Amino acid sequence: MDKYIIDGGEKLYGKLQAQSAKNTVLPLLAAAVLTDEQVKIRGVPSINDVENMLLILSEVGCKIKRMKGCAVIDSSNAVSHEIPARLTKELRSSVFMLGSVLTRFRRARISYPGGCDIGLRPIDLHLSGLKRLGVTIVEENGYIDCRADKLVGAEILLDCPSVGATENIILAAVKAEGTTVIRNAAKEPEIVDLQNFLNAMGANVKGAGGGTVVIQGVKTLHGLEYTPIGDRIEAGTYLVAAASCGGEIEINGVPAENIAALLHKLRENGCKIYAKNDKIILSSDGKLKSVHLVETSPFPGFPTDLQAQYSTLSCTARGTTLVVENLFETRYKYAGELRRMGADITIRDRTAIIRGVEKLHGAYLTASDLRGGAALVLAALKAEGQSTVTDLSHIDRGYADFECKLRKLGAKIRRVRI
Ligand code: EPZ
Repeated sequence: MDKYIIDGGEKLYGKLQAQSAKNTVLPLLAAAVLTDEQVKIRGVPSINDVENMLLILSEVGCKIKRMKGCAVIDSSNAVSHEIPARLTKELRSSVFMLGSVLTRFRRARISYPGGCDIGLRPIDLHLSGLKRLGVTIVEENGYIDCRADKLVGAEILLDCPSVGATENIILAAVKAEGTTVIRNAAKEPEIVDLQNFLNAMGANVKGAGGGTVVIQGVKTLHGLEYTPIGDRIEAGTYLVAAASCGGEIEINGVPAENIAALLHKLRENGCKIYAKNDKIILSSDGKLKSVHLVETSPFPGFPTDLQAQYSTLSCTARGTTLVVENLFETRYKYAGELRRMGADITIRDRTAIIRGVEKLHGAYLTASDLRGGAALVLAALKAEGQSTVTDLSHIDRGYADFECKLRKLGAKIRRVRI
């Protein structure tokens, strides 16, 4: 077990390169089982979610090599259609394996990836989409058993633009017979990256990033080498840190349009932001004014994965901020920890009412989920005095070298063994 010791009050200055996007690398790894040929993904971040997905691939029989930040996957000997239960519990996004393992084996078995720290996270849209493609699904004893004599293209309308459901259906449709149309599909940049990856393998996927994705099934997919897009949520986390603490940072590897909703709010807070190609420069005096209302919504709206970080920034902005979390039921677990630092934050159902205070003071803090944990670190960087943050395993799921990157920007943060 480790903990962070953080001495707050430092401004942040410097340059960072964004890691490859966690929420792109995970479906790309799932897609690797769609071909017998070698798949090489460059810049794969060393984060726990990725390591767990690689474990899942090796458990279904893939050979994995990790070298110089790349992951090389050889699925020619993949034999099992069973996704190991212990790993599904660890990693919700193992549910993406359903689509690709079904395409490979016409069979897939996974334990129900229950809820997690941020909400119920149902998978009904994943399962109803797969059924439309001809999959029969038996759910019993906590397992989901999927079979399909053959996968046949279909028209699918998603009740809500679910990222995971869109990705899973694409992975099940790429080699199906005929055409699949997904309406009300998620528009996230990670979906576009999955489309580009699959088309580089020889697939025929069009429309990702718009509301309708069209997949023409193909017979075979070949191996490739691929570099995923930068992690817009990681980049947004560092930008919020600099906005809140004050200073000037430059983030490379993420185009501004991938986090335009966040940048729009940070400008309203009083930050100066310059963006060109995949470079974003933010400067802030650390004395921000509040933005009246922030509502999370599917892309291109304000990302739910930046809600906790932005709420933390709002705790010391001048004025009151209303933050509405529209995607997940319990994504405010960090609020109690912020209160212990002197924040004035009240949660009413899905709304956080945040009244800016002069300053936060250091405290002993416990992370309870990935983005909420990152938000506590940001609060500690801003606070007066010393803070401790424990349960870092949550943060390690999604941020590679978090403390090293923050130290590079001038933060006084160290990771110590408990
Ligand atoms: C992906 O999760 C991301 N994870 C999440 O990031 C992100 O918060 C989320 O998309 C929204 O952007 C990965 O990509 C690995 P959804 P996912 O399906 O696919 C409802 C992080 O911190 N829904 O788009 O699980 C659901 O309840 C993680 O990096 C159904 O009702 O999210 C939620 O309200 C956290 N039925 C909404 O859709 C379903 O079958 C959005 O969920 C599926 C989803």
